[in-house]
Amino acid sequence: MTMATGVDPANIERLIAAFAALTEPGEGVTRLGYSPLERRAHALFAEEMERLGLSVSVDAAGNSIAELPAAGGDGRVIGTGSHLDSVPSGGRFDGIAGVCAAIETARAVVASGAERRHTWRFVAFAAEEGARFGQACNGSRAAAGLTRAEDYATLRDARGVTMEDAMIAVGLDPAGVASARWSPEEWLAFVELHIEQGNVLESQDVPIGIVDVISGSSRLLVSLDGIASHTGGTPMRLRHDALVTASECVLACERLATDARHHGTRVTVGRLDVEPGSITTIPGRATFSVDVRDLDNQRQRETAVELVQLFEHIAARRAVDISVRVIGDTSPVVLPVSLVHELAAAAGSCGYDYRVMSSGASHDAQQISRVTRTGMIFVPSRDGLSHVPEEWTSAEQIAAGTEVLLAALTALDAHDGVPHGGATAR
Ligand code: HGY
Ligand code: MN
Ligand code: MN
Repeated sequence: MTMATGVDPANIERLIAAFAALTEPGEGVTRLGYSPLERRAHALFAEEMERLGLSVSVDAAGNSIAELPAAGGDGRVIGTGSHLDSVPSGGRFDGIAGVCAAIETARAVVASGAERRHTWRFVAFAAEEGARFGQACNGSRAAAGLTRAEDYATLRDARGVTMEDAMIAVGLDPAGVASARWSPEEWLAFVELHIEQGNVLESQDVPIGIVDVISGSSRLLVSLDGIASHTGGTPMRLRHDALVTASECVLACERLATDARHHGTRVTVGRLDVEPGSITTIPGRATFSVDVRDLDNQRQRETAVELVQLFEHIAARRAVDISVRVIGDTSPVVLPVSLVHELAAAAGSCGYDYRVMSSGASHDAQQISRVTRTGMIFVPSRDGLSHVPEEWTSAEQIAAGTEVLLAALTALDAHDGVPHGGATAR
């Protein structure tokens, strides 16, 4: 059933299935950043956009950008998009929903034959997930001018592959990343549609979320070096067990994140590697990741510092060596209230109830907000699940969000990207 605005849930459903088929074998979707599979997804995006008559370019950081030029106007740009990579054994909708909404928006605009005053750009960002290399939003960080070419050699995945080598292996140009930077003067506004990845919208039976603040994330990689030894011959009092030390650190994370000072802070240890990993050898080395999320910039960083101090104290007491590396760091971002209002007006014009809310997850929009006025539209996540195979949002729910996206971009196009209420609102 095509919506009043020409948005077609069936096309969205077709696109979701087509992208979901591009995955490594196993549970859920695995299409890691700067992998050949991610590039195949970008090729599918380009194919869909070229079929609509749009030109598509790929930049040095791997972002794919489809363009619908303006008939007249001043050549400035409004845009939308999201990412095509996934976490390991992730879902079919994280990032993909926003790219499918972008493709469907382009299709509806082309089909309507509507005159546009500005260039519209539809973007598939590269390597948004931090799951592989630690640092998140790599394609959009390049667009925002936040990444230097030399940074790519310092980030490694679990197999020791640097981001630089991974990019080169799929035909990208890490050394040329500066050319991927977007010019703020050219842009009027950018809006990302994304699944909520939480249960607020579903629990309140509201179809549309409009984001006002996006959480930041500080990510650490902690290595503990104790003494590996025989599990039978080594008495408990003589041990320097790296895994027991790590376990105490993991519990310290939960204790800190749940104390009275940290309401709203989230700390997670998602990866823990133990060496030598033998039943009859005391673990000599343990390496674990720490993901600190917060809406409060200062508290996010203070939490990371406090955790490192706690880890160092625990390691010293157990005579275990410790080293800590920062592998990712993004500040929380407050999105412009003028665009929150614009998106709320768009939801109202489409007849949808909405709720203004914060985002617990990080997004490409966070980085793009350094370039231009940026907004986010959320659609519900079933049971609040994400980053797992059970992640689910219906095509109709994505289509409703796409209708609001189309209405918002149309209004931004008509008003030179300035919100109703004149140029003063920021
Ligand atoms: O990890 C995140 O917050 C997002 O899904 N990249
Ligand atoms: Mn995402
Ligand atoms: Mn994600």
